[in-house]
Amino acid sequence: MKTINKINISGAEVYPLIEGGKGINGTDGKSSGYWAKEGGVGTISMVSPTEISLSGTIIPEIFHEKIRAKRHREMVEYAIRGGISQAQIAHDIAGNNGRIHINMLWEMADSEEVIIRVLEGAKGLIHGVTCGAGLPYNLGAIAAEHNVYYYPIISSARAMKILWKRSFRNYAQYLGGVVYEDPWLAGGHNGLSNAENPLQPERPYERLIELRKVLTELGLPNLPIIIAGGVWSLSDWQDYIDNPELGQVAFQFGTRPMITKESPISDAWKMLMMHAQKGDVILQKFSPTGFFSSAIKNNFLSNLIRRKKAEIPYSETATEEMTFLLPVSPIKAVYIRSEDKQHVEQQRHLGYSMIKETPDETLVFLTPDEWTNIQIQRAECVGCLSQCQFSGWSRANGTTGKLPDPRTYCIHHTLMDIGHGGDIQNNLAFAGHNVYRFATDPLYANNHIPSIHELFNAILNGK
Ligand SMILES: Cc1cc2nc3c(=O)[nH]c(=O)nc-3n(C[C@H](O)[C@H](O)[C@H](O)COP(=O)(O)O)c2cc1C
Ligand code: SF4
Repeated sequence: MKTINKINISGAEVYPLIEGGKGINGTDGKSSGYWAKEGGVGTISMVSPTEISLSGTIIPEIFHEKIRAKRHREMVEYAIRGGISQAQIAHDIAGNNGRIHINMLWEMADSEEVIIRVLEGAKGLIHGVTCGAGLPYNLGAIAAEHNVYYYPIISSARAMKILWKRSFRNYAQYLGGVVYEDPWLAGGHNGLSNAENPLQPERPYERLIELRKVLTELGLPNLPIIIAGGVWSLSDWQDYIDNPELGQVAFQFGTRPMITKESPISDAWKMLMMHAQKGDVILQKFSPTGFFSSAIKNNFLSNLIRRKKAEIPYSETATEEMTFLLPVSPIKAVYIRSEDKQHVEQQRHLGYSMIKETPDETLVFLTPDEWTNIQIQRAECVGCLSQCQFSGWSRANGTTGKLPDPRTYCIHHTLMDIGHGGDIQNNLAFAGHNVYRFATDPLYANNHIPSIHELFNAILNGK
């Protein structure tokens, strides 16, 4: 096993081992502080971080406003106060060791404001900002203004080229590295482009070589590439370490640090991951952001898959194909294919009696309870995303102008719930495709939950 040497990240010599930021409440001040204390880079999630009062109590995110746009402002203010309080916790734990980064999902509504105001409120405590899910054009300018390093998360060399040409070249000195996140392996949202096939994974090596080629062309031959997605043990990555073709690399761990003593997620979620089997994680496109994402196939995902499988096309007007008039509400009927009549009856028979339209001129079938939950969650929307397919909310205009899509879900509601001890079967449980390795890795024998110190040492030793 090759030894992994410290490199310069965000202005300090640290181990090139990075805790991938995870929202909501998948990484926090405590987890990132302990990761940095080991001499690595800890990452606090800025997606609705939990606010901790000066006396150490949790301030729950409760919304009081009646209007969505105002609840959205409440959410932003909670996130800023939460982010600052978590940065202080991370700093206190890490001391002067390692580095502390923050992570933001660029497609969150007002993500820039949250980053800027957290950097202002936690001045000197944060060394870098990582941003993915979308093209974070303004990240360089924000980092330069606040004298911190920035790290775009991309899944192809092409994305880096676009970002560089459009904006990053003006802020080159603050660009600390680029995170290459394997879209077929990483947990959470994945950056698969339309040209890439979710069912045909591509080897990371060639894509990383392509990225290094592009970085060299852009005049960045020594910029660290942070490899994320499917990273478990460094012994699997020997060919990538000290490889002159690839240049300087670091490794980001997303799924593996979730089972540590300091990880903020519930024991039930940890055990779900501990016993996951190969193939339990699926790459799918149900997220209201429109991105692909990878999560454990629990009841939550199985229900969405069922809903999608039972979907049928419809038309507002009669056509040669759509001839059968089907009532979908007390005041509306649409046309479906006559051969789908029996399917509708079957769905009703199974309890899926609520028939709802999607923006793609299809119908889905829901139980009355499912429909009630969708209505409640839409009514309680806090406008967390810049554009949301589930509720039709748009930060810019109030509405996307499209029909809200019942094939998706409220990501704020479900991640907030599972991130704070909620049901692990009926919420979205993001995880990387290597999650099955917990079950056989000796570090976790007899359901052992290691501390971050134990995990960090195991990783350094190639385990
Ligand atoms: C539960 C979970 C939540 C995540 N949330 C985020 C997030 O909010 N922002 C982000 O940039 N990446 C997020 N990620 C991706 C991780 O930071 C990391 O890049 C990825 O998990 C690496 O792949 P791995 O899971 O195979 O280790 C998340 C991953 C998981 C498993
Ligand atoms: S409905 Fe959409 S925008 Fe509203 S809180 Fe849920 S995920 Fe966010």
